[in-house]
Amino acid sequence: MSWMSSKEYTNTISYKLSSLSDTKRHGYKVSVKNLNSWFGSKQALKDINFDVKENTVTALIGPSGCGKTTLIRCLNRMNEMTSSAIVKGSVYLDDIDIYASNVDPVIIKRRMGMVFQKPNPFPTMSIYDNVAAGLKLNGIRNKALIREIVEESLKGSVLWDEVKDELGRPGLSLSGGQQQRLCIARALAMQPEVLLMDEPTSALDPIASAKIEELMNELRKELTVIIVTHNMQQAARVSDYTAFMYLGELVEYGPTKQIFENPQKELTERYISGKFG
Ligand SMILES: Nc1ncnc2c1ncn2[C@@H]1O[C@H](COP(=O)(O)OP(=O)(O)OP(=O)(O)O)[C@@H](O)[C@H]1O
Ligand SMILES: [Mg+2]
Repeated sequence: MSWMSSKEYTNTISYKLSSLSDTKRHGYKVSVKNLNSWFGSKQALKDINFDVKENTVTALIGPSGCGKTTLIRCLNRMNEMTSSAIVKGSVYLDDIDIYASNVDPVIIKRRMGMVFQKPNPFPTMSIYDNVAAGLKLNGIRNKALIREIVEESLKGSVLWDEVKDELGRPGLSLSGGQQQRLCIARALAMQPEVLLMDEPTSALDPIASAKIEELMNELRKELTVIIVTHNMQQAARVSDYTAFMYLGELVEYGPTKQIFENPQKELTERYISGKFG
């Protein structure tokens, strides 16, 4: 995207975190080490470890209540916004331990965008302003630049052709599937390096879901995607790697083909063949 190299954009949005980095690069985009989480006294995540390569799609699967949402929310420091939540362990974004005391969680959320299960456009805003809002908040004043980023982000989320002639319409007047792509455009406008998606298609019809799935294929070229899904076929279709969780533990993690065709654990085999969950 041409605007990504724009000087004003880079100066305003990009944060040089190199001074916070460890000296040794571990080579993964996201690395989760000994991650534990509790809500009050109830443990929701138990010693989770896995590494995610750049420009891949990773699917988190597992039965309801196993900790998928908690895990994905720990990856960009969103989970700690729940007052009863405790998080222990490390998550690395490149070489940065995002839980280190000198790291600003606001910056982490910018670099690791989140799309939720239920589309949540800003209710009073137009399509255009939904995508532009974050840029304005971050001090970008150049209208031509904002316009370019809005257009590129809406193209990036494959919504542009459907809305380009009516950008002033309320975001909420779009269909559910369009709203979800609007939320993806809003996330893309912040130029995240990682996009976290918690069941982004569960509220959508099959056609809208297929569009989001196609989109993931495109997004993988630009960034790293981690997606929670209940839909096993979707996980098999869109992801390069799959993590199967059960009762707060990461039972098995590996290339999607292997997890689905040759799982190493009996529990994984039973889940993916629909014997429980
Ligand atoms: N805000 C919260 N307060 C207390 N407990 C919570 C909270 N959020 C989640 N939990 C508990 O943490 C565990 C994991 O929940 P989580 O939402 O991560 O599961 P999930 O795998 O995303 O489930 P689903 O597939 O239904 O979305 C559950 O036992 C849940 O009850
Ligand atoms: Mg969930």
